[in-house]
Amino acid sequence: MEYYQVVGGSPLRGSVNIHGAKNSVLPILAASLLVQGESVIHNCPCLSDVEYTVKILQYLGASVSRDGATLTVNTATIGRADIPESLMKEMRSSIIFLGALAARQGRACVYLPGGCEIGLRPIDMHLSGLQALHYAVSFDGSNICLSGEAAAADKVVLPFPSVGATENLILSSVFLPGKTTIINAAREPEIEDLCNYLNRAGAKIRGALTPVIEIEGVQALHATEHTVIPDRIVAATFLCAAAITGGEVTVRRVCLSHLAPVISVFQQSGCQLQLDKTGVYLKAPKRLRRVKHIETMAYPGFPTDCQAPVCAMLATAHGTSVLSETVFENRFIYVPQLRRFGADITVKDRVAVISGVRRLHAADAVCTDLRGGAAVLLAAIAAEGESVIKNIHHIDRGYEALEAQLTAAGVTVKRIKDEEV
Ligand code: UD1
Repeated sequence: MEYYQVVGGSPLRGSVNIHGAKNSVLPILAASLLVQGESVIHNCPCLSDVEYTVKILQYLGASVSRDGATLTVNTATIGRADIPESLMKEMRSSIIFLGALAARQGRACVYLPGGCEIGLRPIDMHLSGLQALHYAVSFDGSNICLSGEAAAADKVVLPFPSVGATENLILSSVFLPGKTTIINAAREPEIEDLCNYLNRAGAKIRGALTPVIEIEGVQALHATEHTVIPDRIVAATFLCAAAITGGEVTVRRVCLSHLAPVISVFQQSGCQLQLDKTGVYLKAPKRLRRVKHIETMAYPGFPTDCQAPVCAMLATAHGTSVLSETVFENRFIYVPQLRRFGADITVKDRVAVISGVRRLHAADAVCTDLRGGAAVLLAAIAAEGESVIKNIHHIDRGYEALEAQLTAAGVTVKRIKDEEV
């Protein structure tokens, strides 16, 4: 087991290049199953979730090689349509393979997916959507299996714009003769990225970034090359890191429009911001101001994945801020960990009330989930003294070499293996 030793209290200063978006890479890798030939995918970060996705592809018979941030996937020799518990349990997004296998093999049998404990995270919309495409779906308590002759559905209406269900429906419709229309589709930039990759390979998908996505069936997809978009959540986390430490940072290699939903929060908290083609520069004020109310929403609303890092940031702001979580029902599980640093946060149902304290103090804490883990790390870098953070494997799911980037920006974060103790 590894943990972080953090010496907090110094301002973060410097510039950071933002790596490719985890939530794009994972569905795009699953989508590579649909391509006849090679997919060359650039800007793929080294994250544990990416490595697990690669393992699934290899289990299914694909060959995958990495050269720096480029993954080359060849799915010519895919043989199987099942994914066992050991691979499915590692992350929630493995459910995307259901739609990808359905498209590629006409059948699939995958174990129930795992993932962060931030809510119930049912998959009913994935399954009812696939049923609307005339797949026979069965569940034996462990495995979800798909079979039958699928056909384009005139319209599939999602009750909520679920990111994963939208992706599964797109993937499973790519080869269906006729036109499938997804109504109330998720509008996240990562969905547009998936559609751009598929369209580059020959798919006919229109309407990404809007609530209506139309997929016209094609016969086959051909080899292609694609560069993954930057990770907007990682970029926002670095902006929070500069803000909470009273520092300044330039985040480079970002897409400004994808950051629009979070930028106003930094402005309201008193940070100075400059946005231009090269990235976002943020300079923190002497003390952050409260932000009256933030509510997480599907894109283009404030992202639920930024809720925890922003909560940590507001823990030291002047005044009381309120954060409402509308997407996941259990996304404040990290809050007791922030309290260990002296944060004054109360949670009732899906609302957190953050009474800003002047200073956080060093503490020992654990990561409860990926973004909650990032929030705990932010508290530790703001707190004067030495903190220890355990269960950092959660952070490794979504942030590449985070400790190296923070240390390069003047904040001392050391990864320690237990046996070094
Ligand atoms: C994706 C992102 C995750 C982000 C989330 C919301 C990836 C790999 N992960 O997760 O980082 O936090 O979008 O932006 O892209 N729901 C149902 N039934 C379903 C599907 C979803 O009730 O069949 C619920 C979920 O429990 C949750 C809400 O809908 O409360 C949103 O989930 P969804 O948009 O599907 O999130 P993910 O795709 O799992």
